[in-house]
Amino acid sequence: MALRTLASLGSLAGKRVVVRCDLNVPLADEVITDDGRVRASLPTLNALINAGARVVVVSHLGRPDGTPEAKYSLAPVAQRLSELLGKPVAFARDTVGESAHEAVAALEDGDVAVLENLRFNRGETSKDDGERRAFAEQLAALGDAFVSDGFGVVHRKQASVYDLAEILPSAAGLLIEAELDVLERLTERPDRPYTVVLGGSKVSDKLGVIAHLLPRVDRLLIGGGMMFTFLAAQGYDVGASLLEKDQIDTVKGYLADARERGVEILLPVDAVVAASFSADAEHVVADAHGLEDTPFGAAGLGLDIGPRTAASFNAAIRDSRTVFWNGPMGVFEMAPYAAGTRAVAQALTEVDGLSVVGGGDSAAAVRQLGFGDDDFGHISTGGGASLEFLEGKKLPGLEVLGWAR
Ligand code: 3PG
Repeated sequence: MALRTLASLGSLAGKRVVVRCDLNVPLADEVITDDGRVRASLPTLNALINAGARVVVVSHLGRPDGTPEAKYSLAPVAQRLSELLGKPVAFARDTVGESAHEAVAALEDGDVAVLENLRFNRGETSKDDGERRAFAEQLAALGDAFVSDGFGVVHRKQASVYDLAEILPSAAGLLIEAELDVLERLTERPDRPYTVVLGGSKVSDKLGVIAHLLPRVDRLLIGGGMMFTFLAAQGYDVGASLLEKDQIDTVKGYLADARERGVEILLPVDAVVAASFSADAEHVVADAHGLEDTPFGAAGLGLDIGPRTAASFNAAIRDSRTVFWNGPMGVFEMAPYAAGTRAVAQALTEVDGLSVVGGGDSAAAVRQLGFGDDDFGHISTGGGASLEFLEGKKLPGLEVLGWAR
C-alpha cells in the first residue's frame, strides 16, 4: 500500500483539519534559536490555507511529563509561525480543553490556530493503548480530517501521530512526502562509497543504530559523545569525558563485526580536552591514546574531535558519493569546540553526490555555523526518525498512513 497524500482527502474547503507538525525547536529563554522545523511546516500549512481549510496545528515541544510547564509552552512557536505565514495565528492555552475548543470554533476558512503542547497531556505519550486512544478521541473532536506532517515523530507510537490517524480521515503532508523521497534514496541502492557520520550527545540512543547500519554502509565515522565509549573499547583512558561503561563490550562487538564485513570505522585520533564544561575553560588538543596526559589529568573533558581527526573525516566524506550525518562532533554551541562540527559540515557541502544532514541538533549546528540549507542535498527535520528509517525499523506514524517498505 502506498502513502496516502493530501489529494486523497478530497476538498478541504471549510473543513477543520488537524495538522500534526514537529515544531520541537530549540529555545533559549523563550527565544527560538533555530526555526528550521517551523519553516519546514510551511508548505503543508500554506497548501491547506489556500484550500480554504480551517487549520488546527498540534505539536509537542521538549519532553514534559504529561503536565503543563511554562518553559515548554508553544506560545513562542505560534508567534514565529504567524510571522512566517504573514497572517494572524490564534493560540489556545490548552490542547483539548475549553481554550482549544473556543479557538477552533472561531476559525474561518483559511485561518490557523496552534494548540498548546500535546505532551502537557499524559495520554499523548502513554504506553497504555486505552489512555492514548482516549486522548486521540479528544483531539479528533477538534477536526474533520487529519494531516500528519511531523516527520520528526513518525517513529513514535503516540496519540497524535498514530491513534488520531486511525480515527479521522488521514493523510501525509508535503514535508513527510519530501523527507521520504530523499531517505528512500539512501536505503535503496545508494551510490557508493556510502558513509554515515554519527555524533551527538544522545549516546545510548545511537549506539544501537550501529548494529543495523554496519550491513548497509561502507564507512562509519564516529565523533561526538559516543567517541569516548569507542576509545575506551580500544583500551584508552578517557578522563572525565562522556562514557557509557556498560556499552564497552557492545562496542567491541561492533568493531569486530565491522572488520569481518570490511566496513571501515573511522575513530578519532585526537580530541579537544577542556578543564571544565565551559566556553572559557582552558583547553588543549590531546592524542586519543593520551586523553589523560593533559594538564587536567583524569578531570579532563573531551569536548570536540581534534584537528587531525577533523582532517581525516573531511577527506573520507569528500571521497564518498552518499553521506548521511547525524549528530554534532562536539559541543558546537561553544566556539572553542565547534571546529570538528564545522569541518564535517564543510566536507558535506563538497560531496559529489547526495549529502543529507539529519536531526534537529545537526540542522541547528549547520545553520548556527553559518551554512545555508542549500549547501546540502537535504536537511532532514527528523533525528531519531531518520535514523530509525535508515535502520529499516517499523515506523508506526508512516504505516498508519498506508506506507510500507
Ligand atoms: C526530535 O527532536 O527528534 C523529535 O521532535 C522527537 O522528539 P522526542 O525524541 O522527544 O520524541
